[in-house]
Amino acid sequence: MCGIVAAVAQHGDVRASVLKGLKTLEYRGYDSAGMAVFAEGSLEVRRKMGKIANLEAELDRNELPASNIAIAHTRWATHGVPADRNAHPHIDDQQKIVVVHNGIIENYLDLRALLAEKGHEFHSDTDTEVLANLIAYYRTQDLDLHQAVRKALSKVEGAYGLVVMSADDPGILIVARLDSPLVVGVAEGESYAASDMPALLHLTRKFLILENRETAVLTDRSQTIFDVDGNPVERDYLHCDWTPEQAEKGGFPHFMLKEIYEQPDVLARTAFDRFHDTEGDVEFESEFSLTNEELGQFERLRFMAMGTSLHAAQLGQKMLGQLAKIPGETLNASEFLYSPELEEGHTLTVVVSQSGETADTLRAMREVQKRGGRVLGICNVQGSTLAREADDLILTHCGPEVGVASTKAFFGQVTALYLLAIRFGRARKVLDADAGRGYLQDLRELRHHLDASFRPEALESVKIAAKYLAGIRSCLFLGRSMQHPVALEGALKLKEISYIHAEGYPAGEMKHGPIALIDEDFPIIAIATPGITYEKMLSTLQEVRARSGKIIAVAAIGDQRVADSADYVLPVPAVPELLAPLVTIVPLQLLSYEVALALGKDIDQPRNLAKSVTVE
Ligand code: G6P
Repeated sequence: MCGIVAAVAQHGDVRASVLKGLKTLEYRGYDSAGMAVFAEGSLEVRRKMGKIANLEAELDRNELPASNIAIAHTRWATHGVPADRNAHPHIDDQQKIVVVHNGIIENYLDLRALLAEKGHEFHSDTDTEVLANLIAYYRTQDLDLHQAVRKALSKVEGAYGLVVMSADDPGILIVARLDSPLVVGVAEGESYAASDMPALLHLTRKFLILENRETAVLTDRSQTIFDVDGNPVERDYLHCDWTPEQAEKGGFPHFMLKEIYEQPDVLARTAFDRFHDTEGDVEFESEFSLTNEELGQFERLRFMAMGTSLHAAQLGQKMLGQLAKIPGETLNASEFLYSPELEEGHTLTVVVSQSGETADTLRAMREVQKRGGRVLGICNVQGSTLAREADDLILTHCGPEVGVASTKAFFGQVTALYLLAIRFGRARKVLDADAGRGYLQDLRELRHHLDASFRPEALESVKIAAKYLAGIRSCLFLGRSMQHPVALEGALKLKEISYIHAEGYPAGEMKHGPIALIDEDFPIIAIATPGITYEKMLSTLQEVRARSGKIIAVAAIGDQRVADSADYVLPVPAVPELLAPLVTIVPLQLLSYEVALALGKDIDQPRNLAKSVTVE
């Protein structure tokens, strides 16, 4: 939600590298963008509504001067409609302080009124312009820039990731964070700041991660972090193992497609190094410190997440139930806050988040910790808030996910949860070593099975079904048991990127209402793969046919019974039931992609969405 990039360098011109970083962050918001530099004694700002391409066109028309210091922003609107005047950076009315901000200043109207009384003028509808003026006000009160920023932030209620540049303080950037991600990048003679690491991978892989309420003063040769009281703090560097190439499209037309194709590698990266074959067990890294004894003492699991991660969490609950025989529930993290404050007892909460920065998810995690519960995080981003604050951690090793519609991150999360189920099962002595080895072997073999999903005939079936689906207005995704969360995720993918209305249901529920929708113009997408739910799914298909509904079925390669009932078949390899979600999700991801492509939608940056939702 909003992307920030900033740089200060000893030599040269940072405009191009800042703009490149900003483009990497476009998935965080894309309704307007802007950049500011300090050159020849003054601050210069360019901003434009729409995508970063519009800003680039503006910069071609009305160039910014070359500079060794710059800040930039891509916006996802909270206060004020997308418009040039509401785009960041925002500058105070005396043109002295310019800021880029991610987050929400909740008391901005009060602050604005106070500043207006002192004669400040405002030209936008945003909370951020108020912040620029507030810092400028304190800067005139005998405070240096860092003190002025800290003083202003002490008056602010809300959340911020912030970078400040001043006309009177050349060569200095002040950064700050509260409940909104911000990282500092470090290189020889250069300092950077950004909302997340991929934005800076083309410049450095060495980072300092800011904690909440910390500020930092960046110059071309120093990065000093301060706590809320203004005392300097020591921080270890984080060396990011992502490469700059991973944050690029690598020949694919869209990030989403690239990320779907990366899934077999994600499986290998997330799982294979963690296999302990002789023990039939899984070994996580040191951030996972739960001992066998502790794992054995938990009586319940609670899974929490939002969006796609919630669907992965639902699968995790089922996997842990089956392999470790431990009961669990899955909650939408934003709803947890309203749940009764019961004793945490022997409950382990598993919090799942690709970014590790989703505000609702973090809030729920902190609430669990406040209630005395223990949190295991499953996360893709090293150094993210979830990764730092969870009591234990499993990283998913998917590499940076850029497409707004999550694909490979889901795949990595489900893989990690399967590993967790084996670990739990072994620790609780529900699985013996032989059984553990069997489950590991199933996962190893899955890598090869997945190839079938990318063969030309499989891709062709998806394209044919997509051509039909692109012409409809609404549809249902149905699955049972392990395939129910997949149905939910399939529906979410379709609506996110093609804007076709889609709902996911457990197939058994169809008869209790949704069946009323079915006629010859209303299709269902049914997941009818082998296993305990197979016969029941065939009955569901018959019920749909009897009402002239169209059927797109995800079915095992060569399954004639399903093919006889369906109008379109998306073939998948037959794999063990517990792992089937990892093969059935692939054609559904590709289906959404092809439908959105046929409809000419903006696949990587669908309207109104943001990849990382850092406001509640
Ligand atoms: C946003 C994204 C989704 C994502 C969800 C949760 O809504 O558009 O793709 O699943 O946030 O994000 P997280 O980073 O916590 O997994």
